[in-house]
Amino acid sequence: MTYLVTGGAGFIGANFVKYLLKKHADIQLIVLDDLTYAGNLGTIKDDLKDSRCVFVKGNITDPTVVQAIFDQYPIDFVVNFAAESHVDRSIENPQVFLETNILGTQNLLETAKRNWTTGKDENGYPTYKKGVKYLQVSTDEVYGSLGETGYFTETTPLDPRSPYSASKTGADLIVKAYGETYKMPINITRCSNNYGPYHFPEKLIPLIIKNILEGKSLPVYGDGTNVRDWLYVEDHCKAIDTVLLTGRIGEVYNVGGHNEKKNIDIVKLTISTMKRLFDEQPAYKKALKKSGDDLSWLSENLIIYVKDRLGHDQRYAIDPEKITDELGWYPETKFEDGIVKTIRWYLENQDWVEEVTSGDYQKYYEAMYGNR
Ligand code: NAD
Ligand code: TYD
Repeated sequence: MTYLVTGGAGFIGANFVKYLLKKHADIQLIVLDDLTYAGNLGTIKDDLKDSRCVFVKGNITDPTVVQAIFDQYPIDFVVNFAAESHVDRSIENPQVFLETNILGTQNLLETAKRNWTTGKDENGYPTYKKGVKYLQVSTDEVYGSLGETGYFTETTPLDPRSPYSASKTGADLIVKAYGETYKMPINITRCSNNYGPYHFPEKLIPLIIKNILEGKSLPVYGDGTNVRDWLYVEDHCKAIDTVLLTGRIGEVYNVGGHNEKKNIDIVKLTISTMKRLFDEQPAYKKALKKSGDDLSWLSENLIIYVKDRLGHDQRYAIDPEKITDELGWYPETKFEDGIVKTIRWYLENQDWVEEVTSGDYQKYYEAMYGNR
């Protein structure tokens, strides 16, 4: 099978590339990524040494780039990770979110449709090359925000509230439209918040780890009671692989693991876990930018409550019953294990953090959080 994986130099896309190369022997991966601030070729440099994986730098909104890939490779699957993905940035500059997330998605769909079409059926619908599928990697944020109870199911009405989630919803709807209007073989997965290796340190968990290592304060938006449903990134990759290979055509699958946590609890757990790891394995202290053996400063006193995000969604929580019942997927990594694995990965991969934050990151950080 030949896969076009867009956004494969970003957090989840890169983890997916690694997952596929390990899981399936007989595959060819074409990674298309425009290497925005969130994309980093270094993340997949070892994977690109494998002859099964090639990289194309380009924008998913560019018809010529995408067509050239279909001209060169017999693409069976398109898995679209490429997106502007950060809610805070979408509040500052929504336009690029609409361009990449909506128009980019439509360009991928249109190009795939054109190249996969083999003819027409008796009702005038296109017929397609056997076995092809377009999978849109979406988010639970398209469902909006929950109160204290309840879960998002696949039939929960779409109710996005941020420019990011609105653009992802627009993308989902155009994917659905290609599925209905042209009978194109599609799936949509809607996943909760991911965490794990290669997560860009503008998102909560890697930002907190990075700030602790630098002895900086830990910014918690609002009162810290907002809830996210966290899933280890490899479990998400496994879900996408499962849906791609066995999901019913045209269906949406929610992906999540019943792992709701308040932001403040995530921050406190990260502090206590890092403290414990430094005690157990003093070699990890090498990752600290603040020198000295006395770690008494590493405490909940680092937490500061900052101005809340505009339109901050209160709670996300996924009901994963459909994907579990139909396709047998379930999350394998318990949060208690996943968070330790993640923190260890950051402690052992400070070169990666420095590489991805060497560009505009500092400017972004100062504009967002001031000079704290
Ligand atoms: P990310 O920001 O880490 O990576 C996005 C990647 O897309 C980067 O490599 C970037 O260079 C690339 N990209 C951006 N614009 C592009 C364009 N116009 N053309 C080509 N490449 C472009 O994002 P992520 O966290 O890995 O998320 C991947 C996908 O999963 C996104 O679609 C996101 O909406 C979805 N998702 C993310 C989460 C999460 O918790 N991170 C949860 C659910 C769904
Ligand atoms: P984030 O990682 O940006 O993911 P999303 O907004 O897609 O859920 O944020 C996760 C939660 O953490 C969200 O409720 C906002 C909050 N948050 C903070 O409290 N402080 C921070 O510095 C960041 C980046 C996020």
